[in-house]
Amino acid sequence: MAFHALEKLINLQDGYKRAFKIAGQDVILVQENGRPYLLANTCPHMGVSLNSATLLPQGLIRCNAHGIEFDLESGRALGPLSSMLECLQKFELVYDGPNIGVDL
Ligand code: FES
Repeated sequence: MAFHALEKLINLQDGYKRAFKIAGQDVILVQENGRPYLLANTCPHMGVSLNSATLLPQGLIRCNAHGIEFDLESGRALGPLSSMLECLQKFELVYDGPNIGVDL
């Protein structure tokens, strides 16, 4: 396991979204409501990447493939399919001086 710097903290702002491939894993760094999240870049519904997903100010991310919204904090889907879907896979972010990254 090794630290991988993803972004300078100064560049993060609400609405930030950028995909990375780290240690063979597709991840996406997002920020909404002042909080950054690192997610597996795969929608739990049908596996579409979240590159074109929309961040919503309520702390949600909407996958634009079929419109399902997920709560960034809990990872849970909203709406009628919520009980049938896995949560978003999240990774713990690590702060290292001026950078934010992940240990993978
Ligand atoms: S693949 Fe994301 S909502 Fe269907």
